[in-house]
Amino acid sequence: MTRVLVIGSLGGELGQAARMAQVRGARLMHADGVASAMVRLRVDGADLALCELAHDVGWLVSQLAEERIHCPVIACGRNVDAAAAVRAIRAGAREFLPLPPDADLIVALLQAVAGEPEGPVHADPAMAAVLERAAQIARAEASILITGESGTGKEVLARHIHKLSKRGGGPFVALNCAALPETLMESELFGHEKGAFSGAVASRKGKFEQAEGGTLLLDEIGEMDPRLQAKLLRALQEKEVDKLGGNAPVKVNCRILAATNRDLAGEVRAGRFREDLYFRLNVITLRLPPLRERPGDIQLLAEHFATRFAKANGLPKRALNGEARLKLAQHGWPGNVREMENTMHRAVLLAQGEVIGAEAIELPVVPSAAPAVAEAAPTSTQTATPTSALKPVTQLVGQKMEVVERDLILETLTHCLGNRTRAAEILGISIRTLRNKLHDYRAQGVAVPGVPGMLPPGFYAQSA
Ligand SMILES: Nc1ncnc2c1ncn2[C@@H]1O[C@H](COP(=O)(O)OP(=O)(O)OP(=O)(O)O)[C@@H](O)[C@H]1O
Ligand SMILES: [Mg+2]
Repeated sequence: MTRVLVIGSLGGELGQAARMAQVRGARLMHADGVASAMVRLRVDGADLALCELAHDVGWLVSQLAEERIHCPVIACGRNVDAAAAVRAIRAGAREFLPLPPDADLIVALLQAVAGEPEGPVHADPAMAAVLERAAQIARAEASILITGESGTGKEVLARHIHKLSKRGGGPFVALNCAALPETLMESELFGHEKGAFSGAVASRKGKFEQAEGGTLLLDEIGEMDPRLQAKLLRALQEKEVDKLGGNAPVKVNCRILAATNRDLAGEVRAGRFREDLYFRLNVITLRLPPLRERPGDIQLLAEHFATRFAKANGLPKRALNGEARLKLAQHGWPGNVREMENTMHRAVLLAQGEVIGAEAIELPVVPSAAPAVAEAAPTSTQTATPTSALKPVTQLVGQKMEVVERDLILETLTHCLGNRTRAAEILGISIRTLRNKLHDYRAQGVAVPGVPGMLPPGFYAQSA
């Protein structure tokens, strides 16, 4: 269940947004202002904070950073006030939610943090086999390692296992081990006591404690720093954590799921991942096949996303015609379900007339062997061949390297609809590097794309 902290008065339109989120399954917490919000966040944490623009969003974001608490902040305000929205984003808010709230935007926000509500959509026998195995082991307590290429649905599967498990009524807490620098990651995982470091003005629970009685997903575990790997191993063995600055270990009780798109056994052989931790996490492995190995899922997923995005964008639901289906069936899907999701998002927006035709399905022309190049190319590459295209790089001569790099990074991120994992993969840089760069851009006052559909049209143009 997604835990949403609402900051501000519940009487007006923010209250309306809160109730919409609640109806859609979120668990609400409330704080009158940013100071009391910090108190809640230290103790319980939250998956998302909705903060009225009347409050000091900038202070909240910087305080969270100072105290090393990770919680995306969504600034909420009347959408006429674009300047205030720009200020909030510059102050570090993840997104801007215009008020009065739009139910579809709320759904998209919740989905962005919570994933698929109904569990994995599937039709292919290969996927059915994985889900059957998942159902078999869900009720045990053993750790499970979920492997699979980027975008195959590892987090969706983890949430599904949690729901089927004995702990389904408890919290599901996910931590992306690649998303934060190592110093932040430690207090994120284990929590800290007041005075543990200069910004630690109060004690705070880490993800282990937040997942008490539930499930903790350690996503992208292959990226975890070796020093933290040792601490994690100890936590798993002893079922207790040492909070930063604490003087006694704290007992924890949560089931561990881990996910990776790396060859973790290979990482062990290369000496980058601890063997003992590998065996501890990997009691059972579930391998999610790439989409190209489960062709039976393609049409169903395409329809699923077409319906979802039509709804989210207030457009009529259109069926896919035969040519569109053929085009989808023939594609190699190097970006897996996430690529399908992005493709269908574009298709829904591009489609004209009664049905979604092949012309609305924009796919890279370069074969899947070179997905990075293909994906980074402009979306209208269907007719151009790589050899006949004019070298666009010529047009860049005269520009500074850092400007070109920034534009490429932001364009790629926009192309991936804000998905950083995917963008980093396409760019061939680590998520950590991407995160640092985006952080710098934000500090320079450049808006950084995030979750799709969250910002008013033309927003990036105004603020860039
Ligand atoms: N079987 C499915 N049914 C419905 N949606 C799915 C399914 N699999 C994946 N998705 C959607 O595709 C996107 C990618 O899924 P998810 O984040 O679980 O993948 P991942 O393997 O964790 O990717 P990454 O390696 O990039 O983190 C999500 O938006 C998710 O909702
Ligand atoms: Mg993931």
